[in-house]
Amino acid sequence: MDVNEIQTIEHDVVVIGAGGAGLRAAIECSAQGMNTGLIMKSLLGKAHTVMAEGGMAAALGNADSRDHWKIHFRDTMRGGKFLNVWRMAELHAREAPDRVNELEEWGAVFDRTKDGLINQRNFGGHRYPRLAHVGDRTGLELIRTLQDHGIHQGIHTHMECTALELLKDGDKIAGVAAYWRDTGRFVLLKCKAVILATGGAGKAWRVTSNSWEYTGDGLAMAYDAGAELMDVEFTQFHPTGMVWPLSVRGILVTEGVRGDGGILKNSEGKRFMFDYIPERFAPETADSEEEAARWLEGAEGARRPPELLTRDVVARAITAEVKAGRGSPHGGAFLDIASRRPAEFIKRKLPSMYHQFMELAEVDITKEPMEVGPTLHYFMGGIRVDAESQQTRVPGLFACGECAAGLHGANRLGGNSLSDLIVFGQRAGMGATEYVRANPGSVAPDHDAVKEAFRRATAPLNRESGESPYALHDELQDTMGANVGIVRVEEELKKGIDDVAAIQKRAETVKAHGSSQYNPGWNQALSLRSLLVSAEAVARAALMRQESRGAHTRLDYEGERDEWLDYNVVIRKSKDGSMDVEKVKRPEPDAELKRIALSELEPLEEEVTAERAKTREVADV
Ligand code: FUM
Repeated sequence: MDVNEIQTIEHDVVVIGAGGAGLRAAIECSAQGMNTGLIMKSLLGKAHTVMAEGGMAAALGNADSRDHWKIHFRDTMRGGKFLNVWRMAELHAREAPDRVNELEEWGAVFDRTKDGLINQRNFGGHRYPRLAHVGDRTGLELIRTLQDHGIHQGIHTHMECTALELLKDGDKIAGVAAYWRDTGRFVLLKCKAVILATGGAGKAWRVTSNSWEYTGDGLAMAYDAGAELMDVEFTQFHPTGMVWPLSVRGILVTEGVRGDGGILKNSEGKRFMFDYIPERFAPETADSEEEAARWLEGAEGARRPPELLTRDVVARAITAEVKAGRGSPHGGAFLDIASRRPAEFIKRKLPSMYHQFMELAEVDITKEPMEVGPTLHYFMGGIRVDAESQQTRVPGLFACGECAAGLHGANRLGGNSLSDLIVFGQRAGMGATEYVRANPGSVAPDHDAVKEAFRRATAPLNRESGESPYALHDELQDTMGANVGIVRVEEELKKGIDDVAAIQKRAETVKAHGSSQYNPGWNQALSLRSLLVSAEAVARAALMRQESRGAHTRLDYEGERDEWLDYNVVIRKSKDGSMDVEKVKRPEPDAELKRIALSELEPLEEEVTAERAKTREVADV
């Protein structure tokens, strides 16, 4: 293979992945004058971002003027069980309002308050109605807005272009080896910086809200290139996915249903979440039907219903009810909004849910309850990055959005993903720009590495015979569901690791039939490696963390253990190619941030009210 004959495209920065984070990063790079390429496996506009339906969290204070970045920060830290990277949680809470307002300037059409401000709804773990939303299609509107804005910024978009490997010049990033899915032809993207915005690896599980693209490509490419993964044991099971019919199992049912008043019941008709209120959240959670009803009526000072506890708590509660034999007919719980809100309200605020259930399950949610159960939705962990710039430890390699670790700690609050994408997408774009400016010398990918990348990619086509990529993917999903699921024990995790290792071995001889043109079998064979690296990382990290915290539940190590609060699990590729898993001490938090996060709610509310009054006084002067 002559590298000079391979199609070559040059950019300053290549962004991989065109969901909210990738688009926002690309917009920033382009606005800063970078020649920016945006590559995506799929078509522009098709990203998991659309699965964040209910809204984006930002302390705008429109629906409740008491909101403030400090309260948002405190909620995020408590939701993440204090394992979040403190500085990232601070930057996110401080900068989300500006990023949301910027979206509005770029044309996003948000729902409105009576006064014409961006409306905000309630979501689990958020003290105030904080989610700026567009009905239950917020992610879609975010993508639409960024896409429309982005294409006028001179970004070069490359659709149906799959990244295979990152290329380096010495220790620095120098390009990406990729292929076009329609023709199967290879393309070499030369650049000085790469921003990974590839999302998670939900497709390693069968019941998931993720679509086919989410195979952990960014995690695996970063790992192979020498970056570190962190906190990957924390995989979020969203409590409410569809459970029936089987063909749509896992599709998301937005938390907005509960945010707008929906309640959960078991097969005995009991509203069971009152039985699952953790001590930490008890002071702020309604413990009776009467108190929850006061909240629904909007009574001053009413405590929030237990259905709005954090996702880890609600998902575990549904699982426990099913295990106790009190599940719905198809193994979930009943989510009822019909008895709480008029049909007109439901159709206006939750139009997608109405159509989704009508068309896919023949259920009219304005009249009947939905059947729902946990679905793998999100990776809290991912590529370890610097909080300010989103750079990894590989010079020129950046990551943002779901594929990056840090903001969410052990459990993400709903709505914090969309704001994560725009806050850290912007920062990654700025970080990459500054890196390119600071490194004006030219870089060129090593020719042997380029050849090797493309040789590896064609191997499944060139073998006479071998394993089916579909069968291997199926087996991976079986073992991840059975052994690395919502609750975990040592024996099962070890079985999961062994199974993944056995599948990895067999994947070395995977066979794709046919030619390279639009070949789904070949595409599947190529994404197996990323899925397997991601799955192994999750299982190994989950085995190492001997406690239960947030979305990581160990039945053999119940409860949070103080000694684990000081550690992240960090993963690197060792020299011999095996996976190194290490318990790494966390830096000491900033004293002021710690004070805010650990503060009781009332004094903090008084503090921010006083601060606001002071700001107003200064403004008046
Ligand atoms: O339930 C939802 O609408 C999902 C939102 C999110 O994951 O942030």
